[in-house]
Amino acid sequence: MGILYGAAYYPELWPEERWAVDAKLMADAGYNVVRIGEFAWSSMERSEGCFNWGWLDRVIDVLYEHGISTILCTPTATPPPWVVDLCPGMLPLDVNRSVRPQGGRRHYCYNNPDYRRHSARIAGALAERYGRHPAIVGWQIDNEFAQENTGRCHCPVCAEQFQNWLRARYGTLDALNAAWGTAHWSMEFNRWGQIEPPTQGVSPKCPSLMPAFKQNSGYLLDFERFSSDSIVDYQRIQVEAIRPHTASPITHNTTGIGTDEVDIYNLAKDLDCNGLDCYPDPLSEDLTWSSFSYSHARGVMRKPFRLLETTCSGGQNVWSGQATAHPSPGRIRLVNWQALAHGAESLLHFQWRPFPKGAEQLQHGVIGIGGQVGRVYHEVKEIGAEVRRLSDVLTKTTVRNEVAMLFSYDHLWSTLIKSVDTRFGYTTAAMGLYREITAQGIGVDVLPYDADLSQYRAVVLPMPTLMRPDIADKLKQYVADGGTLVTTFLMAVKDWDNGAFTERPTPGLLDDLLGAIVAETDVPDSRIPASVVIEMDALQAESSPGVWIDILEPRGAEVIGTLTGSHLNGEAVVTRNRFGKGSAFYIGTWLESDPLRRLLGLVLDDAGVTRPPFQLPDGVEFVRREGDGMEILFILNWTMKPARITLDTRYHDLLRDAVYEGELAIPASGLLALVREMG
Ligand code: GLA
Ligand code: ZN
Repeated sequence: MGILYGAAYYPELWPEERWAVDAKLMADAGYNVVRIGEFAWSSMERSEGCFNWGWLDRVIDVLYEHGISTILCTPTATPPPWVVDLCPGMLPLDVNRSVRPQGGRRHYCYNNPDYRRHSARIAGALAERYGRHPAIVGWQIDNEFAQENTGRCHCPVCAEQFQNWLRARYGTLDALNAAWGTAHWSMEFNRWGQIEPPTQGVSPKCPSLMPAFKQNSGYLLDFERFSSDSIVDYQRIQVEAIRPHTASPITHNTTGIGTDEVDIYNLAKDLDCNGLDCYPDPLSEDLTWSSFSYSHARGVMRKPFRLLETTCSGGQNVWSGQATAHPSPGRIRLVNWQALAHGAESLLHFQWRPFPKGAEQLQHGVIGIGGQVGRVYHEVKEIGAEVRRLSDVLTKTTVRNEVAMLFSYDHLWSTLIKSVDTRFGYTTAAMGLYREITAQGIGVDVLPYDADLSQYRAVVLPMPTLMRPDIADKLKQYVADGGTLVTTFLMAVKDWDNGAFTERPTPGLLDDLLGAIVAETDVPDSRIPASVVIEMDALQAESSPGVWIDILEPRGAEVIGTLTGSHLNGEAVVTRNRFGKGSAFYIGTWLESDPLRRLLGLVLDDAGVTRPPFQLPDGVEFVRREGDGMEILFILNWTMKPARITLDTRYHDLLRDAVYEGELAIPASGLLALVREMG
C-alpha cells in the first residue's frame, strides 16, 4: 500500500461543490488518504434508523476518483442529542458526581449499556455499508479515548461494574481487604456494594476531592485498571461490530503517552495496528517527547503504527488557549519526517481546512479558512513529493534498535498515586533516560513488560516500583543469558497490588540480580549539599543527586557511584553486578544530564551496543532502519543552525538524491536519509 499521507477532512461541513476542488488540491499535494467521519454521527443518522449515507457515498467516490483513499472513523466521540435522549444516564459523572453535559464532545460513559448498544449499531452500519469499498484503507474507532479528562466516570453503572470487576479479580472481600490493606484507616468492606469509585482520578489533569496520598493505594490503582479496562471493552464492542464486514485494518487514535488514563497496550490487543495522534511543537529544538512517543507507539505492537493526526502548523495551536506561531520553513517537514523515520506507516495532518462554525475555530489548517493555499500547503506538498519518493523504501525497512526500555501503565499509575516528587514522575524518568541514550545516536524501543527481549543487548527500566515474581524471573534470565540491565531508584518496592514489599529489604525480588540491597532511602536537599562521584573503568564524573536517593549496601556488586560531601559521605548509590553472562546496573538517584549521558554511554558500549558510524553534534537525531538488505540512516538537525558531520564513507541521500562524503553541513532544520554507497 505504501505510506498513507493525508489529512483529517470534514466534508459534512462544506458544500458538495467544494469536494472535487479539495480532492484536486489534495492530490496535487501528494495526498493519497483522508480521514473522515469521527464527528459526523448526526450527518450519518439524523434519528434512530434514519440513515443518510448519500453524502458519504459521494464524497468517498469523489476523493477516490482523485486517487485519495479513506480511513473511516466511527463517530462515537460526539453522541448527538437524540442518542443522549435515548440513553438515560449515559452522560458521565466526574469525581464530584456532577454531569459532563452535551455541548462539547466525549460526553458518554464507557459502561453505559444503552450507549454501548448504539455505538455498536452505528459502527456496524458504517462497516456494513463501506467495509468492502475499494477506497477504504482503514478504520478508526472513536476519537482520542480519555482525552479531555474523559477516562474516568463515577456514575452508578460504573460503580456496579467496578464492584463486578473487583469480584472477578479477588473472588472474596477478605482477599480484597487483605490485598488493599483496608485495616489501615478502618476501610474494611463488609459488602461489595460499599465500594464506590474513589474520589480521585490519579491523572494530574483530573479533578480530585482528596489527595491521592491520603487514599488507599490499592483501591486507587485498581480503579485505574478498571477504568482503563472499561475503555478497552468499549472499544472491543465496536471492533466486533466492524470486523465481519471488512478486511481493512482497524485502529484507534489515542494520544499515546499524551494520556495516562488508558493502558495503550491492552487497548491494542483488539486492533490490527496501533494508532496515534501526536502534535510535536515544531519550534522546539528538543524533540525527545515526540521521538519517545513514536518509539512507544511502534513498541506497542512491535510494528509500524498509524499516525492519524499530527502537526501541519503552529505547535500547541489554539486549543491550549494560547495560539502559537507558524514555524519557520522546513520545520513541519522536519517534525513530519521524524514520525516517518520512527515507523509511522501513515501520516495525516490535522486538519485540511479550519472549522467554519462550532468548536475549535481559528485553528490552522493545510489550506486557509477561505479556501486559499499558502505557506503551509506548499510545505505539505514538498513533503508529499518526498514521501512518494521514499514510500517504497520506508515500507521495506523498519527501525532496528539494540536497546529496549520497558514501560507499563501499572507503574505509571502507581507512581502517580504515591509520588515522591510531583514534578518528576514515571514518564519523566523514562523520557530522561531515553533522551540521554538517544542523544548519543543510540535508538531505544519502548516496549511493554511482556515483550521478548532476546534481540536486545541492553534493557532499561525506569523507576520499576512494582514487581512480580514472573517479571523478576524474566529479568534475571535475560541478564544471566548475557543481557545488560540498567535500572533506577525505587525498584521493586511494591507488589502488583500496590502494597509495600515487606519480606526483606528492597529490591527484594531482585537483590541477587543487583547484588545489593537498599539499606536506607533519602531525598536530596540543597541545605545538605552532597554530590555523587562516578568512577567506572575510564569514566570519572560528578553529579548532584536528584529526586531520590537509594543508599545501597553491596552484596556482591561493585560500587561505581559514591556519595560525597555530607553525612552520607562514602555511601554507595550506583552499582554494577555481574550476574551469569551479563551485568545489572542500579542507579540509585537521578543524575544530571551530562554525567548520566556519559555513564549510560559507557554502560551501553560495554554491552556491545552499536554506535552510529560517525559522530553526531548536539541537537541532531539519528534513526537507523533496516530491511530487505538495506540500511537507511535518518539524520535530523533539530537546531536552528547548520550541523557539521564527518561521514565515514560515501552515502546516497534519498531525499535530495545526492551523494555525500567527508565533511558535510546539514542545513538548519535539515534532514538526510542516507544509504551507504556500494564499492
Ligand atoms: C485532537 C482531536 C482533534 C482536534 C485536535 C486539536 O487531536 O482529535 O479532533 O480536537 O486535537 O484541535
Ligand atoms: Zn459511568
